[in-house]
Amino acid sequence: MTDKKETNQSYAKIAEEYHKKRVEGNDLNKLSEEPTTFSLLKSIKGKKILDAGCGSGIYSKKLAQKGAKVYGLELNQNMINLAKNYCKNLNIEFKQGSIDKIPYPDNNFDIVLASLVIHYLKKPERAIKEFRRVLKDNGELILSTTHPIVESFIKIKDNGRKKEILITDYFKKGKYYWSLHNSKVKIPSYRMGFERLSRLLSKSGFFIQEIKEATLNKKLNLPAHLKKFIGCPIFIIIKSRKIK
Ligand SMILES: C[S@@+](CC[C@H](N)C(=O)[O-])C[C@H]1O[C@@H](n2cnc3c(N)ncnc32)[C@H](O)[C@@H]1O
Repeated sequence: MTDKKETNQSYAKIAEEYHKKRVEGNDLNKLSEEPTTFSLLKSIKGKKILDAGCGSGIYSKKLAQKGAKVYGLELNQNMINLAKNYCKNLNIEFKQGSIDKIPYPDNNFDIVLASLVIHYLKKPERAIKEFRRVLKDNGELILSTTHPIVESFIKIKDNGRKKEILITDYFKKGKYYWSLHNSKVKIPSYRMGFERLSRLLSKSGFFIQEIKEATLNKKLNLPAHLKKFIGCPIFIIIKSRKIK
């Protein structure tokens, strides 16, 4: 089975649950990735934005409410159905498709937001090229992915003693699987470290402007399963600009 098919099937199964967590729950994306991403999306009023890998439309809705003209592109049809319903009173165009073959013309968007989607592609080069193609000159790409640190933990036997652990699989390549908290559905994914991401972007005609490592605000009232993340970088968010 291809990665795309596997990803599509996994998201078809968890679409409702994913949406519920994103909207209501104490979820890492909502508490960490989202505020950090918005801190990089400064002036969006009147801007034409492609929400690439838009999922159930969480970002699309917020961006449209802030005055942007939003277009959502998503692989999975269940997610699109949720997005259409969630954003029904807003003028947003949702399309089914893949970020490595974007169904829009060249030089079309002011901003491409690719939130937590690039790591589903084994070879993300084509998608980065597509982001550049559909962006106007000097257009912005805001791209986020899981921080490699949270994929590099080592399991130890806990005898009640503190241990120092070196992260020795930080550069490990290849596919791995993650699950939503309390879910059995496994989602395939690839690691995307800083070196790979920055090489990808600069080789493809982007100038990196800002990099953020999103964490959790320890003042938040967090549930037990999230407290362990305090002090740990959870997501990488990169803002870059298309160079002519
Ligand atoms: C972790 S979710 C993020 C959704 C949304 N960006 C958000 O932040 O709520 C990843 C989404 O990317 C979609 N996706 C995965 N591979 C894709 C591809 N090649 N093209 C478009 N969407 C894709 C999945 O179906 C899923 O809805």
